[in-house]
Amino acid sequence: MKKIQNAVVDMYEQLPVPYGLVRFGVAPDHPDVKKCEATFEEVAESPRFNYIGNVKVGVDVQLAAMKPHYDAMLFSYGASQDRKLGIPGEDLAGVFSAREFVGWYNGLPQFQGLAPDLDAGDQAVIIGQGNVALDVARMLLTPVDVLKKTDITEQALQTLAKCRIKSVKVVGRRGPIQAAFTIKEARELMHIDKVAFEPIDRSLYPPDIKTLPRIQKRIGEVILKGSKASVDESEKTWALEFLKAPRSVGSSGSGHISSVTFTHQAFAPSANPFDKSASVVPTETTSILPAAIAFRSVGYKSTALPGLSDLGILFDDRLGIIPNDVYGRVITPSRGPGPLTAGHVPGLYCAGWVKRGPTGVIASTMEDAFASADVIVEDWYSGVPFSNSLQGVSSGTGQGWDAVKPQVIAKGVKPLSWSDWKAIDEAERTRGKKLGKEREKFGSVAEMLQVLGV
Ligand SMILES: Cc1cc2nc3c(=O)[nH]c(=O)nc-3n(C[C@H](O)[C@H](O)[C@H](O)COP(=O)(O)OP(=O)(O)OC[C@H]3O[C@@H](n4cnc5c(N)ncnc54)[C@H](O)[C@@H]3O)c2cc1C
Ligand SMILES: NC(=O)c1ccc[n+]([C@@H]2O[C@H](COP(=O)([O-])OP(=O)(O)OC[C@H]3O[C@@H](n4cnc5c(N)ncnc54)[C@H](OP(=O)(O)O)[C@@H]3O)[C@@H](O)[C@H]2O)c1
Repeated sequence: MKKIQNAVVDMYEQLPVPYGLVRFGVAPDHPDVKKCEATFEEVAESPRFNYIGNVKVGVDVQLAAMKPHYDAMLFSYGASQDRKLGIPGEDLAGVFSAREFVGWYNGLPQFQGLAPDLDAGDQAVIIGQGNVALDVARMLLTPVDVLKKTDITEQALQTLAKCRIKSVKVVGRRGPIQAAFTIKEARELMHIDKVAFEPIDRSLYPPDIKTLPRIQKRIGEVILKGSKASVDESEKTWALEFLKAPRSVGSSGSGHISSVTFTHQAFAPSANPFDKSASVVPTETTSILPAAIAFRSVGYKSTALPGLSDLGILFDDRLGIIPNDVYGRVITPSRGPGPLTAGHVPGLYCAGWVKRGPTGVIASTMEDAFASADVIVEDWYSGVPFSNSLQGVSSGTGQGWDAVKPQVIAKGVKPLSWSDWKAIDEAERTRGKKLGKEREKFGSVAEMLQVLGV
């Protein structure tokens, strides 16, 4: 909107409420991170921006039906699935994906019925060592009195108040230098009141930690220093277990998880254990961690939107991304100058996790989005074909949402505007005020729509 005068942007969102993972992913005890919403709000206030909430693209409206009305379409629908482990017992009761659990405590309507049994026993195992894994560990170990001031849902708070978990093991298949979490998240766990960190095997680090690159050195200092609380004097503990790959989930016979078995890993003979990208190989040794509950936290996954192929897009299922030229132009082999060279599908672009894969913080995702916007601007001014271009002449209607809206309404769907969202926002804040917190989120789409009298 800044760089192309008169450009109008319609943003479709499947839920009534905006902000994606900023609302439903970022942990409730990280309110500062959510401040980026103010930037999004500035964008939404432009008269050239239309927020179209409660409309699921590919379901409530077909992509092929939208195309004639837009010069360009950009996909930034994130990653709505997660990666599975593919091991026996993974589907036992008491095994949850971190994505479900995070959505549950953050009020994502889809997961409000999750009912994680946090009172089934006192040992939890988290598989994976990224920031999501540490978010889950922190939510399990943080005192409820601290959480109750955040925008965590009341339902989650009540369940966490009954949580019996006393030990949380966060298990990685490689070593500490290769772990994916960042320093701030490790430090936060070290500082939880009355929660002790179980010291790690010192030999996993080089004798002189200063030889490591700066980021790994600083994380190493935090891990080796450990927590203020000591294991002997604390009721609750957490640990980082390294070089263990999940092998199977065991059950006590009742169909509920009772343990997780791991295959011990060793660094590959050619690998430097202190290198960030070091690879590992399995050994003959296995070990069992008792677990009343387990979370797999091994990454999110994007999938194809229904109807992408109608636009000539071949979704890359292996990488879980829309094939693109790295800058954000959607590419496909059939458009290439030769059979092995993909070319741009005119007018189609992507950004965020569906462009790059499910990694990156908000700052890097925003940078990536700016890059995608910049290539649209560059293409626009350089006169390359856009959607509906026929020999340089556009056959599109240029009507955007005005033309799509009747199709959506004919399906019985109620599209929401930015002011509708603001009404829901206000109602959530009012509910929150009564509970001494910023907001109490609505846990279902029906409740959100009820605010608007729908
Ligand atoms: C658990 C978790 C915690 C995180 N915490 C932090 C943090 O503390 N700090 C930080 O910097 N980063 C954090 N991140 C990373 C950050 O959230 C992501 O980098 C960023 O949100 C990715 O943006 P995105 O637009 O690609 O996807 P999303 O934020 O997922 O947005 C995609 C949007 O598309 C919508 N959508 C999907 N399908 C459709 C459809 N068919 N029709 C219409 N709309 C659709 C979704 O509802 C969603 O609103 C966290 C990530 C996770 C998973
Ligand atoms: N506070 C924050 O800033 C914050 C909070 C949450 C999320 N985020 C961001 O959101 C993104 C996604 O986070 P994430 O934690 O979902 O993903 P991630 O950072 O990619 O971490 C995934 C973890 O799972 C492991 N893993 C993958 N497959 C596995 C398998 N089959 N068995 C065992 N372990 C396996 C990985 O180990 P290998 O390395 O060995 O593959 C890695 O430790 C990241 O960029 C993260 O920084 C940020």
